[in-house]
Amino acid sequence: MEAFSIRGGTPLAGQCQIQGAKNAVLPLLAAGLLCDGGIRLDNCPRLKDIDNMLRILQALGCKARWDNSAIELDAGGASSYRMPRELSKQMRSSIFMLGPVLARFGQAEFTYPGGCEIGLRPIDLHLSSLRAMGAEIREDHGLIHCKGRLHGAQIHLDYPSVGATENILMAAVTAQGDTVVHNAAREPEVRDLARFLNACGARVRGAGGGTIHIGGGAQLHGCAYTPLNDRIVAGTILLAAPMTGGDIFAKGARAEDMQAVLSKLRQMGCLVSQEKGGVRVRAVGRPRAVRRVETNPHPSFPTDMQAQMMALLAKANGTSVVVENVFENRFAHAGELNRMGADIEISGRTAIVRGVETLFGQRVASRDLRGGAALVLAGLGAQGETIVDHIAYIDRGYERLEAMFAGLGADMQRVETEA
Ligand code: UD1
Repeated sequence: MEAFSIRGGTPLAGQCQIQGAKNAVLPLLAAGLLCDGGIRLDNCPRLKDIDNMLRILQALGCKARWDNSAIELDAGGASSYRMPRELSKQMRSSIFMLGPVLARFGQAEFTYPGGCEIGLRPIDLHLSSLRAMGAEIREDHGLIHCKGRLHGAQIHLDYPSVGATENILMAAVTAQGDTVVHNAAREPEVRDLARFLNACGARVRGAGGGTIHIGGGAQLHGCAYTPLNDRIVAGTILLAAPMTGGDIFAKGARAEDMQAVLSKLRQMGCLVSQEKGGVRVRAVGRPRAVRRVETNPHPSFPTDMQAQMMALLAKANGTSVVVENVFENRFAHAGELNRMGADIEISGRTAIVRGVETLFGQRVASRDLRGGAALVLAGLGAQGETIVDHIAYIDRGYERLEAMFAGLGADMQRVETEA
């Protein structure tokens, strides 16, 4: 079994190039199914979820291949509306395919999607939105059958779900008539999907805000596109600066997409600056605790940075409160951090983090993607050796995290361990 071995205590310094965002690339690949011509996405991260998505697209009849760090996808030959069961079960993002498959073939057959175990993750908003656009949806024995020619609609989302907003966008661009999404997700990846669709000939306005207008009836052609850089990878890397007393420049990071995280780092006493082509974070002494970190949809503090921030707060001076509002069951890392000497108490969706002076190296296990990244950060700031097991979770969202941190001076390796 692969694990990370980390010897903590070195202040990390230098620059790190940030990869394209997994959460941007996945919906763009799904959107490729709508295009008449081929698409090329540059600067894509080599991640298992992305490979799975390519395999799903290939199973539907698309041609997809890597060209160094670019992906070329040609959906011209796509012929199947049946999602391959095993692959879809492995990743929640396969739900993005529902809108595009239905839009392209007039029908779709799906299994319930899988993904990280961080809560119930229902798909009711995806289904009700597509129903509002004219899809007939039947569920039996874990299979979802959808049928119908889609038309435009006025859709109000009860919650600004990222995936549901993206699904609607993709379903609506080729539907008959116009669609308006109210209470849409405002995440930068939604804005990026709209930019991509527009580059392919769609008419989407307002993405990035709470109301999105989508002109229907577009015929999409292909295009070459560079997806947004990964703000969660950038945030994870930058948190290593205060964690280790270092100075890190994340090249390609966009400060405007990371304000909630950067603002917390400032409150903790770090020097944060937006410099040409990226974001720099410098530690000044021991980080201070913050009163409250509360996750909510963008532009609030992202749930995907909650675990990493908790690892940092575990070493801060004073007591902080962390509230997880987006996903239930997303505190699995707290117990592992406590095994490293942290003092974290969980009550429902709230964590009380009493900062300790020193974390100690320990053998710990990832339970999900971002929780695993939090344990790596803790290991970088701990005394002695930390072994992080079950790093397959971490590999879902970070391309060779060990190389990124080693490039900044960390003593961190990928090793084989006994199960
Ligand atoms: C996306 C991100 C994920 C991030 C999340 C929230 C991708 C591939 N993944 O996931 O990394 O953590 O946004 O920022 O982009 N919900 C429902 N019904 C639905 C859909 C969602 O109740 O039909 C709930 C979910 O259970 C969850 C909340 O809404 O509690 C947020 O989910 P959503 O915004 O849909 O997240 P994802 O698109 O799955």
